[in-house]
Amino acid sequence: MFENVQQGPVDPMFDLKKLADNDTSPEKVDLGVGIYRNENGQYHEMEAIKEYESTTGNPQFLEYAAQIMFGEKCEALVSGQITSVQTISGTGANHLAALFLKRCSGSKANSVYLGTPTWGNYEPLCSLVGMDIVKYPYLDPESGTVNFDTLLEMVSQAPPQSVFILQACCHNPLGVDLTQSQWRKLANAMKEASVFPFFDIAYQGLGGSQEEDAYAIRLFTEMGFEMVVCQSFSKNFGLYGERCGVLHVVCSTATIAAKVYDQLRCLIRWEFASSPAYGSRLVNLIMESPRLRQLCELSLMRSRILDNRRELFRLLKHVPGDWNMILATKGLFCCLPLSLLQCEQLQSKHRIYLPGNGRINISGLNSTNIDRVASAIVDVL
Ligand SMILES: Cc1ncc(COP(=O)(O)O)c(C=O)c1O
Repeated sequence: MFENVQQGPVDPMFDLKKLADNDTSPEKVDLGVGIYRNENGQYHEMEAIKEYESTTGNPQFLEYAAQIMFGEKCEALVSGQITSVQTISGTGANHLAALFLKRCSGSKANSVYLGTPTWGNYEPLCSLVGMDIVKYPYLDPESGTVNFDTLLEMVSQAPPQSVFILQACCHNPLGVDLTQSQWRKLANAMKEASVFPFFDIAYQGLGGSQEEDAYAIRLFTEMGFEMVVCQSFSKNFGLYGERCGVLHVVCSTATIAAKVYDQLRCLIRWEFASSPAYGSRLVNLIMESPRLRQLCELSLMRSRILDNRRELFRLLKHVPGDWNMILATKGLFCCLPLSLLQCEQLQSKHRIYLPGNGRINISGLNSTNIDRVASAIVDVL
């Protein structure tokens, strides 16, 4: 997909800053980059504000982000085939990935395949960059599992280089993921059809361990796919307001990865210049601190979600209807079998707020409201 990607146009300011930063001579006078310096010639750090990051983000943070996603020992990572840039959270990673694919794939990545229902932002952000959307049904309503045969059929019929957006774990809105064996079959089918994986992963660690939730991404990387991976730190590091994310592009060689990096650098420069700094620094602090990592907050969040699932199921299992999806789904979400009217009644009669498709955020349940929610569901049914 990326073999014809060229070096991006030179950004003289970027190169100048790099040169000046690398010059350790005491005689250095840096009059280049447009920031206010103090009397000592240093970046002037105001009382409560720190300087901004470089265009492509905080390098230490990007290293940690790639390790969280691919594992420290990942061969493609060690050999420089994966290039990573900081983005405006997961949404920004998705946008940058779509923009990059559309601009730099030599008009190969024209169609994007979406299993629906899915996260509402994929369609507008892909349309925005001029990609054609092809939809297929993601769920088999009979079994409540992924409509896997249809997915395989779409893959085999798609023109080569078509893009398939895949949520790696904790599917939003359904909570229904592929099994590990399905990921392996899908990978083989996608290889054979020469279609392009576009992974989005916004809930890593909320379904299983971070490693388990990255299973598909690590598998596809090991199998030598070129692909994009959009990583969010909103939910699993609690950095919603900091807009902290990463786009990783896995390439077939380190030379291609360097060119891809250069194109991404240009797109970032033209669109938002650099990413917010604090989120990445907070991630670094956590990753560097054994004490903070030992807090294991993510696994506590995950087990609380599981407890809530078990309790809601216990409260509803005697009510007519199939409630197995509460236990069978993973992550923050689950779609309850409720009609639009029933969802509206939950809101108007019981002040319980959920979208009209019945999707509930399981973590919104707690010991003070779960009985009331279950009774209200029975009432509207
Ligand atoms: C599937 C999916 N991808 C990406 C995102 C992006 O999240 P953010 O931009 O907060 O990182 C979300 C957020 O809801 C999501 O559900």
